[in-house]
Amino acid sequence: MKNITIIGTGYVGLVTGVGLSEFGNRVICVDIDNDKISKLNSGVIPIYEPGLEEILKRNVRCERLYFSSDISSSIKNSEVIIVAVGTPMTDKGNANMYYVDSVVKVIAENLNDYKIICTKSTVPIGTGKKIINTLISDFTEGVDFDYVSNPEFLREGSAVKDFLWPDRIVIGTASKKAYSIMCDIYRPLYINKNPIKHTNVESAEMIKYASNSFLALKISYINEIANLCEHVGADIHDVASAMGQDGRISDKFLHPGPGFGGSCFPKDLESLVAISKEKNINMETLKAAINANKSQKAKMGTKLENLIDGGIKNKHIALLGLSFKANTDDVRESSSIDIIEFIIKKGGIVRAYDPIANDSMSKLFNNISYYDDVYEAINESDCLVIMTEWNEFRALDLPRIKNIMNDRYILDTRNIINMSELSRLGFVYDNIGRIKI
Ligand code: UDX
Ligand code: UDX
Repeated sequence: MKNITIIGTGYVGLVTGVGLSEFGNRVICVDIDNDKISKLNSGVIPIYEPGLEEILKRNVRCERLYFSSDISSSIKNSEVIIVAVGTPMTDKGNANMYYVDSVVKVIAENLNDYKIICTKSTVPIGTGKKIINTLISDFTEGVDFDYVSNPEFLREGSAVKDFLWPDRIVIGTASKKAYSIMCDIYRPLYINKNPIKHTNVESAEMIKYASNSFLALKISYINEIANLCEHVGADIHDVASAMGQDGRISDKFLHPGPGFGGSCFPKDLESLVAISKEKNINMETLKAAINANKSQKAKMGTKLENLIDGGIKNKHIALLGLSFKANTDDVRESSSIDIIEFIIKKGGIVRAYDPIANDSMSKLFNNISYYDDVYEAINESDCLVIMTEWNEFRALDLPRIKNIMNDRYILDTRNIINMSELSRLGFVYDNIGRIKI
């Protein structure tokens, strides 16, 4: 078991740190955000991630997990340094490498002994090579290091489960020594079955982009099929479930919706397009997935406008779900952002509710109303729009809603509300790709 420093305690870094300490390693999670570290040291978890708090607290108690703002000494005292800082999208669509580059500088300054420098953040293919060159030119003579690319495949909302029961762990490195140390830090995972895949650095970097882009493409595909279903008398639930029974297709990531969001899919697709452009390789499928997703997000506004008699102007619209998916407080690239902008532009009034993402969204929109109770948001509204598939929304009390709403419109962008009940109660509704009952 190893001494590990994780740099960046965001959604990915924190779950990774907690998970690796659960595997018996001694882990220090560091971050430039002192406030985040103080919160963690006083037992406050800065993000919402189901199951995280319990294992975090257990490992802190067992003295395997620490939080610190002292990046230099943490690096000096660790054998494995994992980089998990953000790589957000720039205006040009490529990954912003500013944070990774500045972390690599700090690592170079603190290389006092043999270390593994491991990148977990999603970085353009070829970044590993650049980092190795920077470290070679900057490091103190006589000090040795190895480089590893170990991409993350953690879905927000089920990141703890994805970490503890991964489908695969990709370790990209040219060094046998580093590979063996990395296997050691994941050791509890492969006592019965070995999910570890050893590749070179570039392949590991590519596996991350290729996987996320493929999943995003699959979603855009099913969204387009759903849109067509609406015009040909087919039902997307029957279509997707029968498609999914084919083992070659699989039923995962075949749920139509308001377009994918989050910190990964949109930026990873754009970044892979930017990489392919640099290499003069045309990737039509990626561009199609991006464009289809933009159209899907815009389509939700059109659906809403077509649904409400007399349009959106001056209508009170209860917007249920702000995060980009259920079980997270993250609103990055959420389709809710697009629909809020659309409603405001059309002169409607937004009454927003999310079980946990109200705070995150209020940093982007302070000109809409937020409610702490779902029925308060719905009260006296003309239309209700479901944007996120929170379980709470699957069990809405529709007769009660009928009584408290001013009008009777429902747009269910996640297909989670029972259509026969909606019809029976006299709601006028729309969803994605279903045959209306
Ligand atoms: C990030 C990347 O964006 C993603 O591409 C990758 O796959 C995993 O890591 P995420 O964990 O969601 O995703 O990022 P974020 O929640 O923004 O966390 C980044 C953390 O790094 C923040 O806490 C930030 O304060 C910290 N950070 C940033 C540093 O500690 N040092 C820096 O120099 C920059
Ligand atoms: C993604 C990857 O799945 C994960 O492996 C890691 O690399 C980080 O990025 P994440 O973005 O957290 O995870 O969530 P994910 O479950 O992949 O959903 C992404 C978006 O696609 C969400 O907006 C979600 O609502 C949408 N989605 C997902 C659909 O619209 N339909 C689906 O069938 C699945």
